[in-house]
This record gives sequence, C-alpha cells and structure tokens, in this order.
Amino acid sequence: MNINIKILSATVGICAISVSLIGQAFADADNDKLVVDGKVITTQAKAPADSELEKLYSGWRFRADETQSLQMDDFENPAFVAVDQAEDQFAMVEGKAGKSCADCHSDVTDFKGLRATLPRWNEAKGKPETLEHIINECRTDRMEAKAWKWEAPEMLGMTALIGLQSRGMPVAVKSDGPMQSVWKKGKDLYYTRVGQLDMSCASCHENNYGKMIRADHLSQGQINGFPVYRLKWGGLGSIHRRFKGCMQNIRAKPYKRGSDEFVALETYLATRGNGLSVETPAVRN
Ligand code: HEC
Ligand code: HEC
Repeated sequence: MNINIKILSATVGICAISVSLIGQAFADADNDKLVVDGKVITTQAKAPADSELEKLYSGWRFRADETQSLQMDDFENPAFVAVDQAEDQFAMVEGKAGKSCADCHSDVTDFKGLRATLPRWNEAKGKPETLEHIINECRTDRMEAKAWKWEAPEMLGMTALIGLQSRGMPVAVKSDGPMQSVWKKGKDLYYTRVGQLDMSCASCHENNYGKMIRADHLSQGQINGFPVYRLKWGGLGSIHRRFKGCMQNIRAKPYKRGSDEFVALETYLATRGNGLSVETPAVRN
C-alpha cells in the first residue's frame, strides 16, 4: 500500500510533485530479545487501556541486528563514553556556591526510578518539568553555575547517566492532576497534521509503524531509550532533537528544544510508552 502525497507547490505553480514516501514492505517488530550484560530488558508491553496502539514495542525491536547488538553490551555501546564523562562531571565543583552535584547527592544511584516518572509537575514553579529542567535548576539555583544548553554534551551525558539508573524499570508517567492539560496539549500536537507534507506524528508512528520509509524501518516513535546514541549523529541526542528532525523531514517548522510544545509532546509520548522499560542510553542508526 503506497501512500502518495501530492505537494502542490505555489512557487512551481501547476507542477505537482508526487512523493511516494512510505513503501510496501511490511515487517513488524522483530522477535529479538534485549539482554544487556546478562539482564533481560522487556521491549514490549501491554498497551495502556486508552491506547490507540494494540501493543507497545520499543524502537530497539525495529533496528537492524548490528545496531541492536551495540545496545546489548555496555562496552560496545558508544554512549558510555559520555556516561563515564558525566560521572566525573558529577563530582566536579562548579559555580559560585562552590559545590558539586556529589556534595548534595551522595550517589547517582539515588536517582534510581526518576527517569521512569518524567516529565512531571513542578508544584513550586506551577509548570511541568523534564530531566533537563531539574538538572539546570540545581545548577542555577543551588550551585550558582551557568545552566547547560539543552543539547550540550554535558547535559546529554548527565541525562544519560541519571536515566541509566532506571534502566529496566517500567515507564510510569502521570497524565492526571495538573499534568492533564499538558498531556492534552501534547496529544493534540501528536495528531495535528503539519508541514508541506501535511502529516502528523501519528501518520507514521501510529498508522504505519512496521513499514519501511526509504531505508528506515518505522517504529512507534517511543522515547524510552533517550537520550539515544545515534550513529548518524555520531553522538547522543535529546528527545527534542529527534522531534525536530521528524518535523523537518515533513517540511514543518519545528518547535524549539525546551519549548512548551515539545515538553507537552514529550509528556504525551512518555505516557504512550507507559509499561515499556527504560533503556537509556539506547543506540539507533
Ligand atoms: C546545594 C545542593 C545541590 C547541588 C549542588 C545539586 N543538587 Fe540536585 N537537588 C538538590 C535538592 C535540595 C533537590 C530537591 C530535593 C531532592 O529531591 O533531593 C535536588 C534534586 C535533584 C534531582 C531530582 C531528584 C528527584 O528524585 O526528584 C536531580 C536529578 C538532581 N537534583 C540532579 C543534580 C545534578 C545533576 C547536580 C549537579 C549538576 C545537582 N543536582 C546539584 C540539591 C542539590
Ligand atoms: C514521515 C514519517 C514520520 C513522521 C511524520 C514522524 N516521524 Fe518520527 N521517525 C520517523 C523515522 C523514519 C524514524 C526513525 C525510525 C524509527 O524509529 O521509526 C523516526 C524516529 C522517531 C523517534 C525515535 C524512536 C526511537 O526509538 O529511537 C521518535 C521519538 C519520533 N520519531 C517522534 C516523532 C514525533 C513526535 C513526530 C511528530 C512531531 C514524528 N516522529 C513524526 C519518521 C517519521
């Protein structure tokens, strides 16, 4: 089943370009088992009751064997260079208060379980917060150090190190209470068609996962492995970087990293993966 998308370009006038984007070949998630250093990590889960999906699959299940294997051994996983650097960073004194993370958080293992619950509501600020926000709040308010940029290597390393502490735990992000309106905004964004190609996130990741798009095997677009090491990026990248890339691919103007829109989208996507295991840091092509 080919989906032909006609782009009627105003500048080209009468000329209509037909793009055959999503190919014929259908291969559902494979049956490989993710075992990291002897520990089994479940890569599928029952869909939550209100889910549009029949079953949840981690993006790992759609990758080629070579890419999959890189995530099965922490010595081969290229993300661990950044994770090791983040461990050093954790003990480094920075800022006017003369503190390191370790001065207040004796061990990074204290953050076990945290990744699985984010984004969450910040009562004091009256806003939702992601892991990036939490880390920067400690840096600016408690260390009196400069905030890290969303995509800075230090931020990516630290979010990977903190996320790793929850590896194997089921994602359990809340969509009720004060998070409800954030979740709803994220859901609206997920289903809104945008860009020259007039597609929504659902056009690919809900209606066509399992199919091939050019040379790439479409997954459900889950975020349980982020930040991920992408071979194409040659490094770690944030959830919001991936959102940007997908929006650019459909020729839409992407929102900014850290924007209210992307925080809402992250919240909604996180709940779509409730029940899947945290896989941080995952490896992708
Ligand atoms: C001066 C003390 C201090 C420093 C330094 C500090 N933090 Fe914090 N941090 C806190 C306090 C207080 C909280 C809120 C209470 C809590 O959850 O522990 C917190 C919360 C957190 C949380 C959320 C924990 C949770 O379970 O909700 C994370 C993650 C975190 N800090 C990471 C860091 C990182 C990474 C650094 C270094 C870049 C850092 N912190 C530096 C004091 C500090
Ligand atoms: C034209 C099809 C298409 C659309 C529309 C699209 N994506 Fe993607 N997306 C891809 C492809 C291809 C990949 C890489 C293969 C994969 O994991 O599906 C990808 C990957 C992802 C991933 C990484 C999944 C993983 O496990 O690493 C996330 C997250 C994601 N997309 C989110 C989104 C969001 C949010 C939107 C809407 C703003 C969106 N995508 C719209 C094609 C699309």
